[in-house]
Amino acid sequence: MTATRIDGKAFAEKVCDEVSEGVKSLQASHGVTPGLAVVLVGGDSASQVYVRNKVRQTEACGMKSFHHILDATTSRGALMSIIESLNADPEVHGILVQLPLPDHLDSRDVIEAIDPAKDVDGFHTSNVGELWTSGESFIPCTPLGCLKLLKSVEPNIAGKNAVVIGRSNIVGRPMAALLLNESATVAIAHSKTQNLQSVCRQADILVAAVGRPQMVKADWIKPGAIVLDVGINRIETDDGKGKLVGDVDFDDASKVAGAITPVPGGPGPMTIACLLANTLEAAKRSVS
Ligand code: GUN
Repeated sequence: MTATRIDGKAFAEKVCDEVSEGVKSLQASHGVTPGLAVVLVGGDSASQVYVRNKVRQTEACGMKSFHHILDATTSRGALMSIIESLNADPEVHGILVQLPLPDHLDSRDVIEAIDPAKDVDGFHTSNVGELWTSGESFIPCTPLGCLKLLKSVEPNIAGKNAVVIGRSNIVGRPMAALLLNESATVAIAHSKTQNLQSVCRQADILVAAVGRPQMVKADWIKPGAIVLDVGINRIETDDGKGKLVGDVDFDDASKVAGAITPVPGGPGPMTIACLLANTLEAAKRSVS
């Protein structure tokens, strides 16, 4: 079997086109341009690249982009006063504080300071609670992108066995909630899970979000399963240039899976597209 390659880049372009149309119609109907504020405190080079991409794509969709690039030593008080001013700013509909934060800042404390109506990451406990109770919430962008990709190849998720490897607040837990809301039978595997390989082999839908390069091999995968690879890991190559790989060994897994996302070009591009879609949604809610 050779798996269908799920093209996250093409899908993300489609979502961004829809968002651009939505921006134009909100401008025409209410004179409102959605605005997204991104806050980066210190940050490694990967975070800086993510933030640059977010700013560029926000503007490309016709939205207003605000960014605050802060020194790694920024105090809690200084960060909180920026968040307060963004909460109060009518031009800002979405606020994203890039994670991880430097050690002296508590990410939960910072996220709780964001107005839940502007929490386009869906990380505020109010939005997390809504998600787990099937309510109206902002859904974290990476899991939302994965769900859209999954539905593009399998509209009938109900009753399927889903295994999510990884229990982070950013991906694993919200992904499990989304799959549960679609009536899948869901297991969350993590570093303490016993017989991980055999747990994964039960999955009709396997989501890998652990940050371990090419950990998932062909013999971890049920024949015909749908595999969504959220990992983005840089590995050394013989030519010294290095390359990005996922948590799944793509070439090996493709021999067994029914459909699989590549890295790069899988859930990654969908994350920013979903962030823009959430920001448009926040702006629409602000006028309704
Ligand atoms: N760091 C890695 N992924 C994300 C994300 O989706 N949102 C935020 N705020 N930080 C991240």
